[in-house]
Amino acid sequence: MPPSRGIHRLAVATAASTFVLLFVGGLVTSTGSALAVPDWPLSFGQVFPPMVGGVLFEHGHRLVATLVGCLTLVLALWIAIAEPRPAVRASGLVALFAVVLQGVLGGVTVLYKLPLAVSVTHACLAQTFFCLTVALAIVTGPGWTSPPAAVRPDERPIALLAGATTAAVFAQLVLGALMRHLGAGLAIPDFPLAFGRVLPPLVTPLVTVHFAHRIGAVIVALSVATTVARAARSPRAELRRPALVAAALVVVQVALGASIIWTRRAVVPTTSHVALGAALLATCFALTLRAVRLGVRRSAEPVPIGFRREVPA
Ligand code: HEM
Repeated sequence: MPPSRGIHRLAVATAASTFVLLFVGGLVTSTGSALAVPDWPLSFGQVFPPMVGGVLFEHGHRLVATLVGCLTLVLALWIAIAEPRPAVRASGLVALFAVVLQGVLGGVTVLYKLPLAVSVTHACLAQTFFCLTVALAIVTGPGWTSPPAAVRPDERPIALLAGATTAAVFAQLVLGALMRHLGAGLAIPDFPLAFGRVLPPLVTPLVTVHFAHRIGAVIVALSVATTVARAARSPRAELRRPALVAAALVVVQVALGASIIWTRRAVVPTTSHVALGAALLATCFALTLRAVRLGVRRSAEPVPIGFRREVPA
């Protein structure tokens, strides 16, 4: 098997495992199991403690995280050895650094009994790391270096729109993480109204953060709709497909958000909402990457700088 195809498969496997890890990690908070294991890096001084109660979720999360860490290590080393494009090699190393930092933040948050800043940073770095693995899967893929047809003028704004939408989704994830780790998930107990009104009285910080997340959802939905309206007209499936997936994800994400309130934070909708938020972010990011690549090639570069496959002398 040529090394590049192997690298691509490993990158896809790493991204897929990271998505599973996001769901499993979300379960830890949704089930209130974050302090079920008091120590780190071992669990009750053992590698395999009895998996009972919250330990199943907390230690299960650690096991899946270890698998993702190992996959990332192999991926980063393989890329460093076999990949000729400097930007891809650098991205592999950044992913490795991010996964190590993520593990340390997870440990610190347990040892210091869930300080808000560390828990929120751990949640946001998880999403960023997922995007990095998706980016590695995309740029090592077979289609990335083949020259596309000339870009049309109406495709040019897609990169900017998709980039702005990715930023909006990321800001929404930060608000979501803040709300979750502040325990503000039910600070506004009804939906779609808020305390029976369109504008709730912002009497406490928890209500304010919760309401900001709802406003954020409107901004995200409008941003996705604007991007999709533009990308759906492109003749390129590589732009149309992620745009349509993002549109579907945002609809399901809002429905899941509503069901968190209506089910009083039931574990499955709440955790699915966390994972789907990551899927939406990664989809918008993938669309941005693809649109940027087209924009760069428009200026007669054979392939983006740093992503060229140079033939060694
Ligand atoms: C459409 C865009 C939306 C996105 C991208 C999004 C994303 C997220 C994410 C990622 C989290 C968890 C963050 C973490 O812990 O890491 C979260 C939490 C939450 N979201 Fe959303 N959300 C959206 C819309 C909504 C809507 C419309 C509602 C309805 C009220 C909602 C309600 C909630 C609630 C209640 C939580 C906290 C859950 C808990 O307490 O455990 N979200 N959101």
